[in-house]
Amino acid sequence: MSSHRPEIDSLSGEPLTPHEWDGIRELDTPPPRWWLLIYAATIVFSVGYWVVYPAWPTMDGFTRGLFGWSSRGAVAEALTASDAARAGFETRIQASTVEEIEADPELLRYAMAGGRAAFLDNCAQCHGTGAQGQAGFPSLIDDDWLWGGTAADIEQTIRYGIRSTHPETRFMEMPAFGADQLLSRDEIADVADYVLTLSGAPATEGAARGAEIFAANCASCHGERGEGSREMGAPRLSDGIWLYGGEREDIIRTVTYSRRGVMPHWEDRLSPEVLKKLTVFVHSLGGGE
Ligand code: HEC
Ligand code: HEC
Repeated sequence: MSSHRPEIDSLSGEPLTPHEWDGIRELDTPPPRWWLLIYAATIVFSVGYWVVYPAWPTMDGFTRGLFGWSSRGAVAEALTASDAARAGFETRIQASTVEEIEADPELLRYAMAGGRAAFLDNCAQCHGTGAQGQAGFPSLIDDDWLWGGTAADIEQTIRYGIRSTHPETRFMEMPAFGADQLLSRDEIADVADYVLTLSGAPATEGAARGAEIFAANCASCHGERGEGSREMGAPRLSDGIWLYGGEREDIIRTVTYSRRGVMPHWEDRLSPEVLKKLTVFVHSLGGGE
């Protein structure tokens, strides 16, 4: 049988196939065994796959596989599972007070995520994406509160608004002392000088006159020493934090025309759960009391 033994290539020592093209011979080097084994395994796997999973198109659809699995079904199932988990959290939010939510780390994390999202959707355009505030819109991350920083205060503010159209709104209007001719220009300039001394500006002659004007016209809301009043929503004037600016001209403008910033009410626009999440979120921003 030696005539069937393959010829050996003299250069490489490898067997040769019988093929020859214009004197060029082909080495007979089969693919390695590991390669063949993997190749066979993939064929076996693909046959198994056709049987188990949806695979081949048919005239009226496709083969559905042994267990009827489909990626659409898998997504639907995952959604149902996450809905169920959410519904669990939502029920717990519904049943818990803000304090209880804050005491439960898992529920707090859920409420904070929802609160942050609702804040970005509804509040950030006025209060800033980081709730840092801007001129005319108070910062919600410091502990300087116009109306109060307890959870209950914050919830009331969000629910009913400030100078909003809700009948329960928080409400207080600073008179427009100049526009309504309650004080003269000079008196307003003097009282502005006095207000500046409350947060550290040096006393002037005008400020001394202004002190009396302040006691007569302003202290009822802002307090004897400008410490502010939360019942009135009257800002503290002695802390160097200004909603409408702390330059002399800003203060003159505030006293002349008043400002009357409006915070909309959210009670009938957001669900009770979202209101609660927003309260938790704002309460935990850093200034919560
Ligand atoms: C249209 C602008 C606007 C939007 C939107 C808005 N606010 Fe306000 N918010 C204000 C203004 C103005 C004030 C200050 C009113 C005042 O002078 O007392 C305020 C005040 C507040 C206060 C009271 C701060 C304090 O010092 O007592 C809280 C809390 C608050 N907003 C939370 C929110 C939340 C939460 C949202 C979103 C659901 C929101 N605001 C949306 C304008 C807005
Ligand atoms: C009826 C209560 C009331 C009286 C009286 C009053 N204020 Fe006000 N004041 C407020 C309220 C409420 C605000 C909040 C601003 C707004 O209208 O949105 C305010 C705001 C201010 C601010 C702006 C503070 C800031 O952070 O920018 C200044 C300054 C001020 N008042 C000074 C005065 C002076 C001076 C007088 C007296 C001439 C006076 N107020 C009398 C209620 C009052």
